Amino acid sequence: MASASPPGSLTDHDEVFRLVFEAAPNGIVVIDAQGTIVLVNRQAEKMFGYERQEFIGLRIEDLVPKRLRQAHVQHRKGFSENPSQRVMGMGRDLHARRRDGSEFPVEIGLTPVKFPSGMLVVSSIVDTTERTRTENELRRYAAELERSNADLRNFAHVASHDLREPLRKITAFGERLRKHCAGSLDERGCDYLQRMTDASHRMQGLIEDLLAFSRVSMHRLPVQDVDLDKVLDTVLEDLEIRIGETGAVIERATPLPTLQADRSQMGQLFQNLVSNALKFHQPGQPPRLIVSAACPSPRRVRLEFQDHGIGFEPQYAERIFGIFQRLHGRQEYEGTGVGLAICRKIAELHHGSITALGKPGTGATFVLELPLHQPTPPAS
Ligand SMILES: Nc1ncnc2c1ncn2[C@@H]1O[C@H](COP(=O)(O)OP(=O)(O)O)[C@@H](O)[C@H]1O
Ligand SMILES: [Mg+2]
Repeated sequence: MASASPPGSLTDHDEVFRLVFEAAPNGIVVIDAQGTIVLVNRQAEKMFGYERQEFIGLRIEDLVPKRLRQAHVQHRKGFSENPSQRVMGMGRDLHARRRDGSEFPVEIGLTPVKFPSGMLVVSSIVDTTERTRTENELRRYAAELERSNADLRNFAHVASHDLREPLRKITAFGERLRKHCAGSLDERGCDYLQRMTDASHRMQGLIEDLLAFSRVSMHRLPVQDVDLDKVLDTVLEDLEIRIGETGAVIERATPLPTLQADRSQMGQLFQNLVSNALKFHQPGQPPRLIVSAACPSPRRVRLEFQDHGIGFEPQYAERIFGIFQRLHGRQEYEGTGVGLAICRKIAELHHGSITALGKPGTGATFVLELPLHQPTPPAS
């Protein structure tokens, strides 16, 4: 079709279309109903390594790896019987063949265009070599990370398991020494022995907690509907004696929701938070804890555990979630510093988060955000 406008001007539509076609970043290959190539752009020449005059008149199957050509003819027939715009190769291995026989991964958009003389099919081709390489690399990194995480988890598990036995022996023989040989030790000897047994008891506690931590990480989540009010009931029941002894006041400001979770892990999480509130109370004052829930969005729930205890300096709000991290001496408050690390692990395994706010002398608030539903695990 000739244009009335002077060649090269923007009103010369044929020329504008030709330039746009040639400048397109995708390779464009147009075929007729028989699968013969009738038009290509510059990017297609570059991609496939054919000069234009060789390109025109080739069959589209010449651009397909030999092993796939027969199947391609069938696909093409299927397409011409039911022509519609579609994308091929998304998430599927689709390869094209260059003039020199080398192959490269592609994604192809197909558009049928009706002409009075018949149907043409426009293929818009993207070379996905770079993207595929990056995706493969990412996949490899993710697998490596998963492997090294699993190694670490196994290490913590095995190490804490294997350490238990010799430690039990040290403790047991220490006890025997005290029972049977205390008479032959002087005062200094007895003191050393006492310190040794205290230290091994403490180490036993650390190892047990480390084991509990590694168990949480190794656990696969069997999720079910969990009524958090019932979880809190059970935790408060378990802590009944401590609550009674300390005269703690626990206020349930709102009902708690039901959500999809691992019931026992929710119990562990609540237990750690409530025990901390009971432990870190202001000297001379009974512990006070307010538990409440809100829904910041229809899919998430926000739980707050707000106490009126000793609090902490705000700059430590993150540090306390690290394993074995404690802000207070053993003499002041017993513990191993693993509880909050377990809480964070559980929150993260549930695709949620836990953070802390604190002010010395005023109290601490632990904020737990959890989704109401857990994603279905991908089929392996
Ligand atoms: N409710 C709280 N009020 C003040 N400080 C807290 C509170 N909960 C935790 N912490 C601080 O965070 C540290 C880590 O807590 P956690 O991991 O539960 O260990 P542990 O209870 O064994 O000390 C505690 O040692 C304490 O310093
Ligand atoms: Mg604790």
